[in-house]
Amino acid sequence: MRMNFDLPDSLQKHLLSLPRNLRAHISRVRKIARELAVEHSLNAELADLGAAAHDVARHLSGGKLLEEAEKLQIPVGEFERFAPIILHGPVGACWLKKEGILSDSGLLEAVYWHTSAHPDLDPIGKVIFIADKIDPAKVKAYPFQPSVAKAARGSLDEGVLAFLDGIIKEQVDQHRCIHPMSAHTRNRLIIENSC
Ligand SMILES: [Fe+2]
Ligand SMILES: [Fe+2]
Repeated sequence: MRMNFDLPDSLQKHLLSLPRNLRAHISRVRKIARELAVEHSLNAELADLGAAAHDVARHLSGGKLLEEAEKLQIPVGEFERFAPIILHGPVGACWLKKEGILSDSGLLEAVYWHTSAHPDLDPIGKVIFIADKIDPAKVKAYPFQPSVAKAARGSLDEGVLAFLDGIIKEQVDQHRCIHPMSAHTRNRLIIENSC
């Protein structure tokens, strides 16, 4: 299925300034997000727009992200100080809002939380979260990707949960930190889907 949606000029301008490999990732995520949205009877144009916007700040270094977060008054906790790259979602969302590129609150939340997930992501936010994680170029980082893609075809909640299960297991095995919002999201999904 071919679906081409036009992006706002202001967003295109941001995208054109990004490194080529990041633009290629964004392009793959847009395609996956459109397809997932159609599979779940959601607005594919909205999913495409959020996917196009999700990594507008991904090219910044950790130090620069911390500086931007401070300027934009984004809360920075101990996790963000330890792994500042996580701030590219919040910084990107603030830029997009400030510059009037995105006004849809669900899409802004989707961009803000696309790395860790959040319990209140709406269905389009879940589509963007999953699409970002199942980009085939990330298979080395996420070897459990096939189970996420398979789960997401049946249910977006199951797809998010499959990713969080996979990443949290790896983080524990490798003695790495777990983002508190990922743990919180996983708890909420398990509780909500067990009722
Ligand atoms: Fe990202
Ligand atoms: Fe991404």
